[in-house]
Amino acid sequence: MEVYQAIAGRRTIRDFAQKEIPAGIIQKILSAGLQAPSNDHLRQWEYILVQDRAQRELLVGKIRHPKDRKGAAAAVNRWGLTIPSQRNVYIEAIPRQSQMLLDAAVLIMPCFFASGDLLHPESLSSLNSFASIWCCIENILVAAASEGIFGVTRIPFEPERKHIRRILKVPAEYEVPCYLALGYPAENAGRLEQYPVSVAEKIHHDCW
Ligand SMILES: Cc1cc2nc3c(=O)[nH]c(=O)nc-3n(C[C@H](O)[C@H](O)[C@H](O)COP(=O)(O)O)c2cc1C
Repeated sequence: MEVYQAIAGRRTIRDFAQKEIPAGIIQKILSAGLQAPSNDHLRQWEYILVQDRAQRELLVGKIRHPKDRKGAAAAVNRWGLTIPSQRNVYIEAIPRQSQMLLDAAVLIMPCFFASGDLLHPESLSSLNSFASIWCCIENILVAAASEGIFGVTRIPFEPERKHIRRILKVPAEYEVPCYLALGYPAENAGRLEQYPVSVAEKIHHDCW
């Protein structure tokens, strides 16, 4: 598939078909991740694939979220969100936060070597290792889309972060930026509309 087609086709999916991804394709997609640019040239990234059901349940056990649309709508109101398409994404997404991770064909926990104190950076460049792992993750999402595989990332809240580290035995110098769930979309999987932005309006010439 042509790269622009894969980029345009990549969409967040939170409802997965019960269909395995062949091991060769998983490896191909993860290999695409490892070809992303990295700040220190070393690509100090690791993937933990959580495929054991009991381990997955344990891992997601600390995720707290409203379980239905009504609860999600109340949260969205509390946060003061007013843009309809954004509200809709949150209202659809919030109740699925645990199940999407449990149902995905593959649950990948990317890890990156985190230089310095990421939560108290001294400068933007202190966050380079964090920025680099997201290049890796986007490569994975685009490569997956080219194979008809889609997914979702979830950023762990603070209590989840500590829990994840403990359950997965992540070494002290590594950090887990997100859960990355991938799979073939369920027949009824929603593909929510992207917020419309126009490239012509985003480009500034010579200054803002
Ligand atoms: C950094 C980042 C964090 C995200 N966090 C979550 C999340 O916690 N839960 C979730 O369901 N989706 C999450 N998403 C997915 C976004 O909701 C989604 O990308 C956005 O609505 C645009 O939709 P699209 O991916 O189909 O273009 C995240 C995406 C990014 C890039």
